[in-house]
Amino acid sequence: MEISLAPLRPADAPAIVEAEDALTVRWLSGGESTVEGTAAYIDRLARDAEAGRAKRAFGIWAEGCCVGTIDYDPEVADGLDAGDVNIAYGVAPWMRGRGVAVRAVELICAVIRERGIGTRAVIRADARNPASARVAEKAGFVHLRDVESTEETREDGSPVVLKIFGRPVDPESAASS
Ligand SMILES: CC(C)(COP(=O)(O)OP(=O)(O)OC[C@H]1O[C@@H](n2cnc3c(N)ncnc32)[C@H](O)[C@@H]1OP(=O)(O)O)[C@@H](O)C(=O)NCCC(=O)NCCS
Repeated sequence: MEISLAPLRPADAPAIVEAEDALTVRWLSGGESTVEGTAAYIDRLARDAEAGRAKRAFGIWAEGCCVGTIDYDPEVADGLDAGDVNIAYGVAPWMRGRGVAVRAVELICAVIRERGIGTRAVIRADARNPASARVAEKAGFVHLRDVESTEETREDGSPVVLKIFGRPVDPESAASS
């Protein structure tokens, strides 16, 4: 199955809403989405990018359909170091378990590298989300540390624990340094 990434467009909003389930809400979007709200979010991302923000979001495409999203954002700081580029993703429930997320992470790492952004790609997996941690490991990321989030809390008010996984943006320069 061929997987590709394309910059998110407002026209992708219905597919993104269709691809959302309880796990996507819990671990990625933080709330149930509507088509109007998602299109407005994509418009806002484009305006933010024009204004100089660095976050970029892509649709994950397979078999002619948008089956998920993935983004990179070097401005995410919670739990991270300078030079880290955070990656976050979600895949439609009916496409899970087929390597789609791992391939999408590999593709976005290539984009980050080509664009010369940051020094290390990172994935922050909530310690209660083993599927996300598995995606990071399968995409060649190394578990760096666990940190308590300074921004997110659990239902009982305690800080969310983030498992931080990293992979050099340019593996060749990392190997030679
Ligand atoms: C996490 C997510 C993106 C994975 O997408 P996917 O396309 O199924 O991922 P892949 O098929 O590339 O790899 C998934 C791996 O996780 C494993 N996995 C899935 N559920 C798991 C679980 N509950 N515990 C441990 N491993 C799990 C799969 O078995 C697979 O590993 P394997 O190939 O060694 O068997 C998808 O589950 C999702 O959209 N979840 C909701 C959003 C989310 O959690 N996003 C992460 C925020 S950074």
